[in-house]
Amino acid sequence: MTTETETNTDEDHVKIFDTTLRDGEQAPGFSMSTDAKLIVARALQDLNVDIIEAGFAAASPGDSASVSAVASEIEGPIICSLARLNEGDIEAAARALEPATKKRIHTFIGTSPTHREAKLKMSKLEIIDKISNVVGFACSLSDDVEFSPEDAIRTERDYLVEAIEAAIDAGAKTINIPDTVGYTTSEEIRDLFAFLKENARGAEDVTFSTHCHDDLGMAVANSLGAVRGGARQIECAINGIGERAGNCSMEEAVMALATRRDFYGLGTQVNTTKIYQASVALARVTHNPIPRNKAIVGKNAFAHEAGIHQHGVLADRRTYEIMDAESVGMPSNSIVLGKHSGKHAVASRVKALGFNVSKQKIEDIFPSFKRLADTCREVTDADLVKLVTGNAQTD
Ligand code: KIV
Ligand code: ZN
Repeated sequence: MTTETETNTDEDHVKIFDTTLRDGEQAPGFSMSTDAKLIVARALQDLNVDIIEAGFAAASPGDSASVSAVASEIEGPIICSLARLNEGDIEAAARALEPATKKRIHTFIGTSPTHREAKLKMSKLEIIDKISNVVGFACSLSDDVEFSPEDAIRTERDYLVEAIEAAIDAGAKTINIPDTVGYTTSEEIRDLFAFLKENARGAEDVTFSTHCHDDLGMAVANSLGAVRGGARQIECAINGIGERAGNCSMEEAVMALATRRDFYGLGTQVNTTKIYQASVALARVTHNPIPRNKAIVGKNAFAHEAGIHQHGVLADRRTYEIMDAESVGMPSNSIVLGKHSGKHAVASRVKALGFNVSKQKIEDIFPSFKRLADTCREVTDADLVKLVTGNAQTD
């Protein structure tokens, strides 16, 4: 039976499980050295995320070393390593995590028909037995174990319940429901979480987690849909990086919960003023610039060029802004002066540059400003100073 209500009351906030250093790093063009991972891990520590998935220890000696380096240095968040559902991977994860004060083993196995038949070549029963045995083994090495039925969204609901119950019975404390291929919708995933919370035995004793991929550009919306259905952990990555089109973007999910707390009724423990610096750190170490139009952290996210918008924002920023740039750690909203800008924006920037000029002076320089703006992408402060002081070459 499904329900429309917010069924989960086990947490007073949504935990942020950041997988930039694991799923994020798996994306082509985003692999990171241990030093690069440490830079990002420090930024995640400053953000106060709840869990850092630092890597996949069994994947390579380098990955194992990175998990250990993060586990040795970072304090505050739980440090996690991914492991396939086998004893060797789980032992490698436990070894790499040894230096951490707080540690988690995250183990997974495919459960959908495609994964069972094409990849694992295992029966439903064989997979359930493996979950019982190997999740039990992981719990003998760590008291914080997370289990993911990979491709959960395309798994039959009754079988998904069986898989989850096997993991809960074996001692898993977090049940993650991955949308491995970015296939779900926000309505569907909300309904699924509500169904699982209501129907899986032992659901009340574990935290349900969502892990959405962005193949259809819906990872953030779907993660928030999952929260509406009862998820209390979002798995996400800085700048939304991750396999193929990426994972749920950490900054978008966090700011959606912060900005629409009236709607979701829950926030996170993230220090949002550290978001921009984390985004810039990732862009720098991976040599992947932040797209200009990226929500929350892109150069345009708080910029206004159109005259009507500039006029409104200068009168009261709430006319065209739902968040303050400062709340995500950007210096301030930026009024970009260009061919769409109006006299209000020009007058305001002139004043900010230290000139005390009359309205008539703005009227006088405005035609030259427009002619100059037509020839370039952006009129700079230096250009404006020249216009005001009469040193401009605009004709
Ligand atoms: O997308 C996925 O299914 C994963 C799992 C390992 C959680 O990344
Ligand atoms: Zn994933």
